[in-house]
Amino acid sequence: MRKCCFLWNRGNNGCIICGKILAVLLGVCMVLTGCQGAGEEEKKNSIRIGISLYRGDDIFINNIRNELEEKAKEYEREKGIKVTLDIQDAKGSQNTQNNQVDRFISLGCDVLCVNPVDRMDASVIIDKAMNAEVPVVFFNRQPVEEDMNRWDQLYYVGLDAKETAVNQGKMVVDLYREKPSAVDLNDDGVVSYVLLEGESSHQDSLIRTEWSIRTLKDGGVPIEKITGGIANWERSQASALMEQWLGAYPDKIELVVSNNDDMALGAVDALERAGITGVNVVGIDGTTPGIEAVESDRLLGTVSANKETYANAILELAASRAMGEELPREYPLVDGTYYWAPQEILIRDLGE
Ligand code: GAL
Repeated sequence: MRKCCFLWNRGNNGCIICGKILAVLLGVCMVLTGCQGAGEEEKKNSIRIGISLYRGDDIFINNIRNELEEKAKEYEREKGIKVTLDIQDAKGSQNTQNNQVDRFISLGCDVLCVNPVDRMDASVIIDKAMNAEVPVVFFNRQPVEEDMNRWDQLYYVGLDAKETAVNQGKMVVDLYREKPSAVDLNDDGVVSYVLLEGESSHQDSLIRTEWSIRTLKDGGVPIEKITGGIANWERSQASALMEQWLGAYPDKIELVVSNNDDMALGAVDALERAGITGVNVVGIDGTTPGIEAVESDRLLGTVSANKETYANAILELAASRAMGEELPREYPLVDGTYYWAPQEILIRDLGE
């Protein structure tokens, strides 16, 4: 019986065959090991994400920012990859934001997360990103479709504005159906409301207003608009408007429909200053102060974005791009581009 000794018994035919097999195996091994080695070298152990916020003092955006920071830490812990978040506040200036994008690119950011100041003018940012081949995850302020279609490395995370608005309307419809006098406070068969709107150019203001009101009407609430105004998402602007309306239409306002929580809270501030109780105020966002106000019965309710999932989707999407990995399956993209974060209705305790 021949004992096959691959390397040193070369005169032996059997061993030559074995040697060939071994050579092939070794070759395969080398290729495999070689490939793995290269892969390991290429796999990053740190990523840098440039984040620009349209306004850092916006309460909802601030909540998302805090979640993003949390999620980045979680990602680091779970994956063992260092995540550097470079978060900048554009303070409402598109020019400042464009400069921030330049800086992010020159610092070598692997991916950008942009909450555009002017959602109609995202093309400058897109040009810069495309030139530098740095993917962008836009969020909250949706660029126009034409811009989003320019490159397959552009993504958007946000809330479906129509779904949010229908949920907001539904809160009031349900209460009215259950107990009409809880909404029609003076029992005159008409629910007189005022409307607080966000920025006029924001997709959320337009769609939320349209669908909230349509849901109320379709749901059988006999609404009548007293007046409305733009308070640009801001509590203080909404408070000033509401104060004016309370003066102009004393004892008339029964319902305040607000495009977001912060303006809803502004209306509550004005009602409280005037010592008026019972008026129903509904918001959207589920910001920390918004949720507190629902819990303390100062708001009838809010449609709350799941902020954790919202921020996680932004971060996971961005990290997958930065790492050159597959897109995260937990956050399915509509048309390969859009992720719509989940939302839920939070309503105050209505008692028995
Ligand atoms: C809306 C949100 C507002 C404000 C705005 C900023 O979706 O409801 O509170 O944050 O985005 O773009």
